[in-house]
Amino acid sequence: MALYAIGDLHLHYQSELKAPGQLHDPVWKNHEERFLRNCLRTIGEEDTLVLVGDHSWGRNLKESEMDLDYISCLPGRKILTRGNHDMFWGIRKTAELNEIYRGKLSFLQGNFFIYKDVALVGTKGFTFEGPFYLDRNRRIVGLDEKALAHAHKLVEREAGRLRESLEAAREAGCRRMIMFLHYPPTNILEEESVFTRMAEEYGVEQVVYAHSHGKDRFHDSIQGPFHGIYYRLVSGDFLNWQPARILD
Ligand SMILES: [Fe+2]
Repeated sequence: MALYAIGDLHLHYQSELKAPGQLHDPVWKNHEERFLRNCLRTIGEEDTLVLVGDHSWGRNLKESEMDLDYISCLPGRKILTRGNHDMFWGIRKTAELNEIYRGKLSFLQGNFFIYKDVALVGTKGFTFEGPFYLDRNRRIVGLDEKALAHAHKLVEREAGRLRESLEAAREAGCRRMIMFLHYPPTNILEEESVFTRMAEEYGVEQVVYAHSHGKDRFHDSIQGPFHGIYYRLVSGDFLNWQPARILD
């Protein structure tokens, strides 16, 4: 029995592809088939696969049904967190989606699921990505203060949802936890964030995230050990569509 994770499938069986640039990078060529093949080779029915957001380009549930059906047909138990492009997943829809897809898919946001003796907690998260860049001396250039203030609000909201998830797991008596976010826990300007501090506060063992896809983005945030927690980027293209083994 093992726990696997991957993110950013960006399926579009029913909807228009909104990032045509994807088509030019060979890593995205037939990625649905390659990922399915890798899953069938790797994941057994007793295993769990967490998909950390950006599942579908669909603009609503109707337009995402075939994408969610594809995920339902993957082997093992499937748990999904919400990505910034998952328009089918309204913020108050988590319980409803868990009802609609009962027995097929589980939706993780502010709640938690159990894998062996470990609580799988999570939310979408948020990191401010610009507009700004770092110059050669790592000085911030072109920072938009208004956008930054708005980003702070989004971070606070997501931090609240994450705390709900962590608290629910703690109240249920869970001692071990793994945290799943869609967004990286920090942006390229940060060494730590409310998400990394919360992971430390609750004694989380691993933080698993995606969203950073394309070679230029792979090193936007923390990877490997940091303050006693192991951070993993699991964007599909980073993993070349091979689900990452998170825990045995
Ligand atoms: Fe994303």
